[in-house]
Amino acid sequence: MMEDVGKRVQWVYESAGDVEELGKRYDEWARFYDSDITEHYGYQLPSRVAELVTKYVTNKQNRILDAGAGTGLVGQLLHNLGFNNIIGIDLSKGMLAEAEKKRVYTALHQKVLGEDLGFDTHLFDAVVCVGTLTIGHAPASSLEELIRVTKSNGFIIFSMRPDVYENHGFKEKQDELVRGGFWRIAEVTEDFLGLPKGQPDGYNRIYVYRVLRTKSITNIGDDDGDVFHRWSLEL
Ligand SMILES: C[S@@+](CC[C@H](N)C(=O)[O-])C[C@H]1O[C@@H](n2cnc3c(N)ncnc32)[C@H](O)[C@@H]1O
Repeated sequence: MMEDVGKRVQWVYESAGDVEELGKRYDEWARFYDSDITEHYGYQLPSRVAELVTKYVTNKQNRILDAGAGTGLVGQLLHNLGFNNIIGIDLSKGMLAEAEKKRVYTALHQKVLGEDLGFDTHLFDAVVCVGTLTIGHAPASSLEELIRVTKSNGFIIFSMRPDVYENHGFKEKQDELVRGGFWRIAEVTEDFLGLPKGQPDGYNRIYVYRVLRTKSITNIGDDDGDVFHRWSLEL
């Protein structure tokens, strides 16, 4: 593993879109992640997202998907706030094993954002995705699948780096989904430092979208075995 704690965030980013390598790096980092990210980096994103969840999700029994749950920092905060039906997914088994130890999730599953998640349509009242929709991690296309699994009038709340929003397909995808009437913006925060101690110039913001129409979806394989989606509207 990367010896220098101060370079561990950069080190996972450098797996350059190779999902297997990314998973391996998070597996290795998992045992040290909580102390590194909170103490060394001063991680702000989970608490800011949890605050917004309490603002928009008023029923503590609501089913919440924590997409890219990692070691469960967000689940822990939501649990502390009284939420008791949180399902976590992540690609890294090592991170999921750490999340399991916190005993705050109803279920944890190894799944890859950007692929078919295998959940029923309209299953979740809200989705949170923290530090995961970013370069080499979960692509902009994952947002469609997150909308599919969210109930109409449910919320999708996620952190985003402004540079990733501008340059990695998120702006286009988020706008396309607004134009299509699939969600509308409820709130976007100011830009703030997500890792103030470790990355003094690393800004983030949080988007809150209200899902307007969810859709039924058919997964169709092409000749190369890739899966793509055919959407149909449910009004
Ligand atoms: C920076 S960590 C954030 C974890 C947690 N949400 C937090 O805020 O502490 C990013 C997490 O996303 C997971 N991840 C990255 N790409 C993913 C993908 N395509 N699908 C599912 N999980 C992914 C990683 O394994 C890692 O646990």
